[in-house]
Amino acid sequence: MKIAIVTDKSREKLIPLVEAQAEDNQKMQTVMAITEILSQKYECIELTADENIITSLKDEKVDLVFNLCNGIEGYSKLAQFPAMLEFANIPYTGSSILGHALAINKIFASTVFKSKNIPTPGFVSIDSIKDLDDVDMEFPILVKPSDEGSSRGIHQDSLVFNKEELVNKVKDSLHTYTPPIMLNEYIDGREFSIGIIGNGDQATTLPIQEVDLSELPEGLLKFNSFEVKSTYKPHVKYHFPARITDEEKELIESAALKAFKSLLLRDYARVDIILKDKVPYVLEINSLPGLMKTKSSLFRMAEVTDLGYEGLVFKIVDEARKRYGI
Ligand SMILES: Nc1ncnc2c1ncn2[C@@H]1O[C@H](COP(=O)(O)OP(=O)(O)O)[C@@H](O)[C@H]1O
Ligand SMILES: [Mg+2]
Repeated sequence: MKIAIVTDKSREKLIPLVEAQAEDNQKMQTVMAITEILSQKYECIELTADENIITSLKDEKVDLVFNLCNGIEGYSKLAQFPAMLEFANIPYTGSSILGHALAINKIFASTVFKSKNIPTPGFVSIDSIKDLDDVDMEFPILVKPSDEGSSRGIHQDSLVFNKEELVNKVKDSLHTYTPPIMLNEYIDGREFSIGIIGNGDQATTLPIQEVDLSELPEGLLKFNSFEVKSTYKPHVKYHFPARITDEEKELIESAALKAFKSLLLRDYARVDIILKDKVPYVLEINSLPGLMKTKSSLFRMAEVTDLGYEGLVFKIVDEARKRYGI
């Protein structure tokens, strides 16, 4: 069986340079690690997605794509490559067109969560600065892009405490990221990440990761901003096992699995949850979660199980093969 590990081109000209560089570095490291693992069992090639990608995949007689494409631009950027693959009838790992299109947009995803009674922070969608006139939300408010990841666009000043800060941050965000911008009710609780692997009723959770921000330097706001993820990472503590009761574990896992199923996701995903007063607020679900060796949450979660990182990568391929019967 031949597997192509496919990633996309740099977004250097589209998003702030430091964010693009961080993204490119993650991509490169991830492709390298996954190729090394899968090469033990499969014939592997690495490709970058462009307009000719289907021709390249057909020429190379690829049986399965290990999809690592976040997409470049547009509302459904995460779904674009899966759409090309489905059109060309090429099997691929991970979620489908619809799953990615819903999950990448935190506003659409939150709308689905709400409709399924999955707890999620209150939210408002902002297309233009005028929309702020009708906002009736308590401060503090977290201003975030609706379709980014890795805290791109979620900076320390994204948590705003009054109208003036809100207007300035929204102006700034509308200028830099794809509208709509999301205003999110700020939940002051404990943060957890939940890895999910499998499909349908067989989908299971990996050990819950507790994200402990209590040791961030004085003066930094306690949320996982881009500054924290890029500069203050050593101050973030990850707890395995998470310091939670059995009841809390059950609440968190059940919300995470419901979120996974509600967006029809496949093979693997990662859910971010903040628990407050026994309510597991689903912040978002990552339909293409980072798989970087040593640095990603899924890496850490897999490493505390018998699977290990290597086992996780093979399992993602196995789940996809099972779905396609290949
Ligand atoms: N509603 C919220 N209340 C409190 N903190 C939040 C909220 N939304 C996001 N955060 C913080 O910001 C981080 C990044 O937000 P998230 O929605 O997960 O975006 P990303 O896709 O960039 O990871 C979260 O891990 C959390 O620490
Ligand atoms: Mg997140």
